Amino acid sequence: MQLWQGRFKKSLSKTTNDFNSSISFDSRMFREDIQGSIAHATMLGETGIIKKEESLHIVEGLKGILENLLSGKLHFDMECEDIHTFIEGELTKRIGDDGKRLHTARSRNDQVAVDIKLYLRHEVEEIISLLKDLIKVIASKAKEYYDTVMPGYTHLQRAQPITFGHHLLAYGEMFLRDLSRLQDCRKRMNINPLGSCALAGTTYPIDRHMTSELLGFDAPTNNSLDGVSDRDYCLEIASDLSIIMVHLSRFSEEMIMWCSWEFKFVELDDAFSTGSSIMPQKKNPDIAELVRGKSGRVFGDTMGLLTAMKGIALAYNKDMQEDKEAIFDAVDSVKMCLISFTPMLDTMTVLKNKMRSAAAGGFINATDCADYLTKKGIPFRDAYKATGALVARCIDLGTDLENLPMEEYKKVHSAFDDGVYEAINLEKCVADRTSFGGPAPQNVMKQAEDMLKKIED
Ligand code: ARG
Repeated sequence: MQLWQGRFKKSLSKTTNDFNSSISFDSRMFREDIQGSIAHATMLGETGIIKKEESLHIVEGLKGILENLLSGKLHFDMECEDIHTFIEGELTKRIGDDGKRLHTARSRNDQVAVDIKLYLRHEVEEIISLLKDLIKVIASKAKEYYDTVMPGYTHLQRAQPITFGHHLLAYGEMFLRDLSRLQDCRKRMNINPLGSCALAGTTYPIDRHMTSELLGFDAPTNNSLDGVSDRDYCLEIASDLSIIMVHLSRFSEEMIMWCSWEFKFVELDDAFSTGSSIMPQKKNPDIAELVRGKSGRVFGDTMGLLTAMKGIALAYNKDMQEDKEAIFDAVDSVKMCLISFTPMLDTMTVLKNKMRSAAAGGFINATDCADYLTKKGIPFRDAYKATGALVARCIDLGTDLENLPMEEYKKVHSAFDDGVYEAINLEKCVADRTSFGGPAPQNVMKQAEDMLKKIED
């Protein structure tokens, strides 16, 4: 059963085998394990380390195993130590002695490193594409709601008027950064550890450039110790995924608030909401809550990986087997979150009137009122003070700046005139915020179009 039986007199105890085994979670890398082995066997044949016909025999056997695993004809043997042991054992079962030549000039240490890199390279590409889908929905919605006035908040207090499109594009920017972080990480991780062998390279004349090319890597790793003991790419992906989860979680938190009766800015589609077993009226934003909850889980995976790696002397140590469950969980969680969140966002109904009426309360045009005076030559600090007095007066009278009579304005500052009513009109307040990056509708439209272009190339 074990590949390393030679020097042992006894077989492994059942509990040790179970504890030591990783096949329950590394079997998902069977494609990559076979892909890596095919490249290795091909190289062994090309360099004359094994005979050409032996190499071809191995490759043929491996392809058969892949086919049978994919079609469900062949099942993993859960008693095996790991996916590498299973596939090599199965190969030898099928093709005899030539199967035993596959592991020449290779160790499971470089084998597992190459498997994880190939697996994660593919997953990173998938997450990049899911992020693009999300950004596309965000930018399209931003175009649709480019002039929809809503309150912008600080401290969750109504602050200044913005547009819903502008608010959405803020998330678009975050996800664009996430995208470029993953693209960057993909570049850095695309270096081939195969041929590092156990830790010290090999005396066989292997060609690491050839396996790199066959597996689509940019180059072989420069140092064999680093090649087998590096898991930076797991840490980096997990960190990038954690930041994605921070963004998704903040977005979810807002969606949850916006769905509440207190806000009612949006209504989720029935297909993306759940009900209550006791309260017939309930419509709950479970998807957003789960996404918010899963962020904790992904952060935990990242912390677990960092902690597992921090005290390991070079080169390979079994602690490193702990990398897989954590990084797989982080990858799976982020994919599930994106797959659920994007259509939920895409199908929401936006209640523009509720946003507009929320914007009309809370004096969110007070800064514009002060700016009106400032533009007439009054120092901003004096204008600020005068407007503060106006707000206090409105609160006393139970009115707002739009409906406060001119004589009240004049009492506070003589420079006020009827023009102020136009200056504090919410649509105008938003339309005039044309500073670069600001929420004016024409800005939002351009930002959204630029964003769509960015994800096309
Ligand atoms: N299952 C192991 C892992 O995931 C494969 C490498 C085993 N190497 C070893 N020297 N025991 O890390």
